[in-house]
Amino acid sequence: MKVTIFNGSPRKNGNTVTMTASLLEKIRAGGADAEEVFLYPMNIRGCMNCGACRGSGECALKDDCITALKKFEDSDLVIFASPIYMWHLTASLNAFIERLHSLCDHEAGINRMEGKRIAMAMTMGDDEYVAADVVNALLMFCGYFKIEYAGAFAVPFADKEQIMRPLYQEKMRDFVDKIIK
Ligand SMILES: Cc1cc2nc3c(=O)[nH]c(=O)nc-3n(C[C@H](O)[C@H](O)[C@H](O)COP(=O)(O)O)c2cc1C
Repeated sequence: MKVTIFNGSPRKNGNTVTMTASLLEKIRAGGADAEEVFLYPMNIRGCMNCGACRGSGECALKDDCITALKKFEDSDLVIFASPIYMWHLTASLNAFIERLHSLCDHEAGINRMEGKRIAMAMTMGDDEYVAADVVNALLMFCGYFKIEYAGAFAVPFADKEQIMRPLYQEKMRDFVDKIIK
């Protein structure tokens, strides 16, 4: 099983990376082949709605997103990892998610996302309820693109210590057991 974590945090040594490092360890221990892609340093613009992908399934914006889209296509399970910024995903992860639209055109019978499984892993400064809209949007995204929603994991009041606490490490193990199947 090929797992790719798309990490939208700008911080290379921040809370979300601390969480994904621990996640990767557990996913690999479960026998899956896992990779992490850091979106913030990549040049990924939001969708410009040029329409070139309609009927072709190919994005016309030839920036770093093309590599990321290929990694998405090659994955069985995708994890969107992000801190919550302003009750939402970061701009980097959101730009990538917009560009995923190029992989699907229902009218043309193209859907290179169908059958994939997607999960979400988040850190936030407040309680986890601040991610309610993000999880809801992912559920709608999965429904529209015929993707299986695999689950969500969150570390509220996040700092490195909190992420490594037995409570969140235990929850993380349960999350990994659920998504790696
Ligand atoms: C611009 C910005 C906006 C934020 N907005 C929220 C928010 O809406 N809700 C929340 O609980 N935490 C918010 N936070 C706190 C971060 O989600 C939290 O500190 C997170 O763990 C940071 O992860 P990172 O170290 O990977 O950036 C915000 C932080 C920043 C920098």
